Amino acid sequence: MQHFASDNYAGICPEALQALIEANVGHAPAYGDDEWTSRVSDRLRELFATDCDVYFAFNGTAANSLALAALCQSYHSVICHEVAHVETDECGGPEFFSNGSKLLTAGGDNGKLTPESVLEVIERRNDIHYPKPKVVTLTQSTEVGTVYRPDEVAAIADMAHRHGLNVHMDGARFSNAVASLGVAPADITWRAGVQVLCFGGTKMGLPVGEAIVFFDRDLSEDFARRCKQAGQLASKMRFLSAPWLGILDNDTWVRHARNANAMARRLADGLAKIPGTALMFPVESNSVFVNLTPAMIEGLRQRGWRFYTFIGAGGARFMCAWDTTEESVDALLADLRALASS
Ligand SMILES: Cc1ncc(COP(=O)(O)O)c(C=O)c1O
Repeated sequence: MQHFASDNYAGICPEALQALIEANVGHAPAYGDDEWTSRVSDRLRELFATDCDVYFAFNGTAANSLALAALCQSYHSVICHEVAHVETDECGGPEFFSNGSKLLTAGGDNGKLTPESVLEVIERRNDIHYPKPKVVTLTQSTEVGTVYRPDEVAAIADMAHRHGLNVHMDGARFSNAVASLGVAPADITWRAGVQVLCFGGTKMGLPVGEAIVFFDRDLSEDFARRCKQAGQLASKMRFLSAPWLGILDNDTWVRHARNANAMARRLADGLAKIPGTALMFPVESNSVFVNLTPAMIEGLRQRGWRFYTFIGAGGARFMCAWDTTEESVDALLADLRALASS
């Protein structure tokens, strides 16, 4: 049975697994001095069409926390959306790794910051007693499954840069945003003013690991040491990096993300015909948030479905993965229909 609780429930995609197996030959230099890590870094530079610095961490919390720590001092603050993963689901990691930089939350419909909501926080106070805003972080795709268009990213980044702030992107589901928007990766990152991207690998079908991509290379000074100190420098780095080769080939990462997005679309279209359900957000990537009756939630759980009701902005969250099938979506919809009419 496939589940909809998280795209992390899915296994390793075959392309990543094959690349991992192929990297398991003989001895190779440790700590990132291996040929796979340098090949993936070059491939990412090609993908983004720019000379960026690339690092790898074991998970998204560490990637975000360490990247944000690199962009500000402990007396600074980081502006994020009120439902941002860094605020709600990283156990204070960004504050911890930055030695106390405070997260300041801003609003915005559909999980998205706006230049106005960011400006409101920037201008709130500028006295010595307040942590000075130094970073804006955007999540792409957002925690509620919407996506920022290139002009929306650029407008926020312009506002941030005009006020001396750096721009970070939490791209745990960057692939789903690229697949949804049909844009070049550069168009929603450095060309739009993003200086650092945490590029999610796990949710794309890798076994583990995220890439931290510094488009502004001045900001990556000593970042390798930051990773090492935080316990995020893999000794056998080739096994963190090599799986990327499998999914970067032939745009496999975008193909998998397109499947996840299409399955979310199928689920949303099916839900729209079921009484007692109400979609909460536009479905633009691989998640569907929906208000269900308590009886439906209970009924689904009794039938063995796993899904979360505490993430984002409430409601039930159904998350599709690279391997989610039409049959699984249709089975979930059939149970929902049966519960709606019972
Ligand atoms: C928006 C977002 N950012 C980052 C992460 C990465 O978190 P983790 O530390 O679980 O890899 C997640 C995981 O669910 C996420 O949804």
